[in-house]
Amino acid sequence: MKMFGNFMILAQGLSVLLLSGLTVSEVYLNVSPNRLEFFIRESLSLTCLDDGQPAVGWTAMKHSGGHNLCRPGLRDFGTVNGSSVILSDLDNKDTSFYWCEDRNGQRSEYVTIQIEDHAILDIPARPVIIGSNLTLHCIMRNGSTVAAYFFINGSLVVPGPEPEPQTELNIRNVQKSDEGSYSCVATTYGRSPRSRLRVRDPPSAPTPPPPPIHLRVSVNVTPSLQQFFTNGPYISVTCVEDGQTVDDWMVMRTIENKTVECGGSCADFDRFIVSYCSLAFYLNFTGVYWCESKSGLKSDQVTITLTDEHLILEIPALPVVTGSDVTLRCKNRKDGTVSANFFKDGILVGDKVQEFTISKVQQSDEGLYSCSTDETGSSPQSRLRVRDPEETPPSTESAS
Ligand SMILES: *[C@@H]1O[C@H](CO)[C@@H](O)[C@H](O)[C@H]1NC(C)=O
Ligand SMILES: *[C@@H]1O[C@H](CO)[C@@H](O)[C@H](O)[C@H]1NC(C)=O
Ligand SMILES: *[C@@H]1O[C@H](CO)[C@@H](O)[C@H](O)[C@H]1NC(C)=O
Ligand SMILES: *[C@@H]1O[C@H](CO)[C@@H](O)[C@H](O)[C@H]1NC(C)=O
Ligand SMILES: *[C@@H]1O[C@H](CO)[C@@H](O)[C@H](O)[C@H]1NC(C)=O
Ligand SMILES: *[C@@H]1O[C@H](CO)[C@@H](O)[C@H](O)[C@H]1NC(C)=O
Repeated sequence: MKMFGNFMILAQGLSVLLLSGLTVSEVYLNVSPNRLEFFIRESLSLTCLDDGQPAVGWTAMKHSGGHNLCRPGLRDFGTVNGSSVILSDLDNKDTSFYWCEDRNGQRSEYVTIQIEDHAILDIPARPVIIGSNLTLHCIMRNGSTVAAYFFINGSLVVPGPEPEPQTELNIRNVQKSDEGSYSCVATTYGRSPRSRLRVRDPPSAPTPPPPPIHLRVSVNVTPSLQQFFTNGPYISVTCVEDGQTVDDWMVMRTIENKTVECGGSCADFDRFIVSYCSLAFYLNFTGVYWCESKSGLKSDQVTITLTDEHLILEIPALPVVTGSDVTLRCKNRKDGTVSANFFKDGILVGDKVQEFTISKVQQSDEGLYSCSTDETGSSPQSRLRVRDPEETPPSTESAS
């Protein structure tokens, strides 16, 4: 009975927390490994994710001793590693609720993690998607699966004619009705805690990036480049019109076929701007970026590439106006600008030069550019975009 003690306390705690007016957002607490039950002295890491990427401005939280702990390092709440909190050498004190919270007090769903010494159920921390197949095991201290009795909502699961220990519990074609409390009892090793299986709808199908249309609003990258080294300087993506930031357009991006909002970040310590997205180097932000208005109008697009290789091509993020000059440079992670070969659409256009200048840019100069050196290989490719000045509506010069 003692085994369920923690669970009862947690269940009461949760109802108190639920009453205190929480809001639930798309951000979720990712537990790695993906389990709700852990043995004493194991380790786990917690990360606040939004669509698979670390959620900017969100913090992992723990409920402990009547307090909500938000600062890892305080009161046994782990250590920070990048965007994750690592809980190592787990013990009973780590049995608690965990969640993610942003500065406005918006909260993710709660995750109840339980630490145990005898047997655990490998029940996933992430909700299981409707229609998938799930297999649960009872695990003993040395990591081996053990034959056990499985319980759902406190009732023994009897798959055959007689109740007997099973090596696994299979749930095919998981449905909402499979939500509930799950546990296992291995005769000589003891029983696992009870944990709640959560079930969710499948993610909606990915939307392809929208076709670009030409508008006065443009997507801008600061610094104005398309390729970046990992561990490089701080980058932001904004929506601009005539060189001014427009506040009500959202920066959107498609990374690995998933289109999400990127805008809505703190531009400095106290200003929250919709059309401002800051890119952090601990995640791979390689993707297509554009601006989108509330009514669905879309700006041009830019592809931003993060590379962990040795070379980048310095190529402007904004389109170049026909008739102007543009200079491309090749940069090495260590030495800065290096003498290199320059390629347009795979064809050599500059042979071992310090920089590659295109004078009086024309539409035909549009294309995919890259650079390479013999020692360090090739940079990624990026598109030089060319725009006719006539495409921009004439500015209304009423002041002069
Ligand atoms: C911290 O994160 C890095 C990179 O993700 C990883 O290689 C390293 O093992 C982590 N350290 C700990 C203590 O988990
Ligand atoms: C679940 O298992 C059944 C039977 O083994 C199989 O036909 C089905 O394709 C599986 N579903 C998924 C989503 O893997
Ligand atoms: C774990 O312990 C069980 C029983 O004591 C044993 O049968 C099994 O081989 C052990 N597994 C490992 C990985 O040591
Ligand atoms: C467990 O109980 C809950 C609440 O009564 C119910 O909604 C759920 O369907 C039950 N789960 C199973 C697998 O029977
Ligand atoms: C993106 O979609 C394309 C076409 O549907 C597909 O070929 C490609 O594998 C997808 N890439 C990823 C990372 O899912
Ligand atoms: C980021 O992902 C892209 C593909 O989506 C890949 O080509 C690139 O090498 C990755 N960059 C890093 C630094 O991992």
